[in-house]
Amino acid sequence: MSGSGAKFKAAVPRLGIGLPYFASLPAEFYQCGAIDFVEITPEILCRQRPAGNATELKIVPQQMERARSTCAGLPVVVHGVELSIGSAHGWNEAYLEMLDTFQKMWPFVWHSEHLGFQTFRGSDGCTQEVGVPLPLPPTNEAADLVARRSATILERYGVPFLLENPAYYLPDPPSDPEIGDDIGLMRKILERSGSLQLLDLHNVYCNAINHGFDPFAAVDRMPLDAVAEIHIAGGSWDGGFWMDAHDGRVPEPVWELLEYTLPRCPSVGGIVFEMLDDHVSRLGDGILQELTRARKVWMSCGQGGGYGATRFSDVTRAVSACL
Ligand SMILES: [Fe+2]
Repeated sequence: MSGSGAKFKAAVPRLGIGLPYFASLPAEFYQCGAIDFVEITPEILCRQRPAGNATELKIVPQQMERARSTCAGLPVVVHGVELSIGSAHGWNEAYLEMLDTFQKMWPFVWHSEHLGFQTFRGSDGCTQEVGVPLPLPPTNEAADLVARRSATILERYGVPFLLENPAYYLPDPPSDPEIGDDIGLMRKILERSGSLQLLDLHNVYCNAINHGFDPFAAVDRMPLDAVAEIHIAGGSWDGGFWMDAHDGRVPEPVWELLEYTLPRCPSVGGIVFEMLDDHVSRLGDGILQELTRARKVWMSCGQGGGYGATRFSDVTRAVSACL
C-alpha cells in the first residue's frame, strides 16, 4: 500500500453498523440505537438539469435539511452512484461539484464509488448512459486511469475514498496478464492511489454463483488489509442469473462470508445492510433483524467501538417500537 493509503487507512474510525438513508423511514428508527452511522447517496437529495452538453446536479435544500434532521448527528458516509470513475472519456464532473457543496454542508467520514463505468462518448460527441454500471477490464490502462482519478479525489476531499467491487454478468473481459482479473485490478488501483476498498460481499456471492467459483477463495485473494467498509445485501433470480437486486434479506451464504471475512479485515470501519427504498416497507421488521444479526457478527469478531454496541441489549426493544 502507498504512503497515502496507510494514512487514510489510519483515518477510518470503528463506526459499527450502518444503514442507507431512506426518506421513507421515520427519524426515530435512525435515532433509537440500532444504527451507528448512515450511508447516504447524495444524488437522491439532488435535482438533475441539462446544462449545455452536460447535466447539472444541484442539492435540494429541503431534502438535505430533512435528511440531516432524520440522521440527527449520527456519523455519515457517502456512497455515490453517478461519478462513473472508469469512463474513458472522462468522469462526471457535475457529481464532484455537487459533492464539494455537500461536504461543506454535511462533512462525511469517508466516501465511496463503484469500480466501473456507466457513461461513454457517443458518436455525436455527447455523453451517453450505458443504462447499468459495467465493470472495467482488468488492464494496466484501466488501473492507471482509476488510480490517477482516485488520487485526485483523495487530495480534493481529504478523507478516505473507497472503491466498491462490482457484480458483473459478462465473464472474462480482455485483460493484461499481470493484472489478471477484477481482484487484481482492485489491488493495483489501491496500491497506486492510496484509496481503500468497500468490499461488497453480496457482489462476491453474485459473481461466485453466476460464474462458478468459490467465494471464500476469492476473498482470500483480496487486499483485505485495505478494506474499510463491508456491504451485505439480498438479491433474487432473474433470467438465470442471481442479481444484485437489493430486494430482500441477506442470504445465508453471505452471512457465512461475513463471518469468515470480517476478522480478516483489520482496518474495517463498518458494515452496511443495503437495500432499495422500494423494498423498505415490505421488509419491515426484517431490517431490524438484519441489523441485529450484523451487530452480533461485528461484536463476536471483537470489532469494538460503535455507537450502539454499548447498549446492544436495549436495541431490539427500542427499535421494534419504531417500526
Ligand atoms: Fe454495495
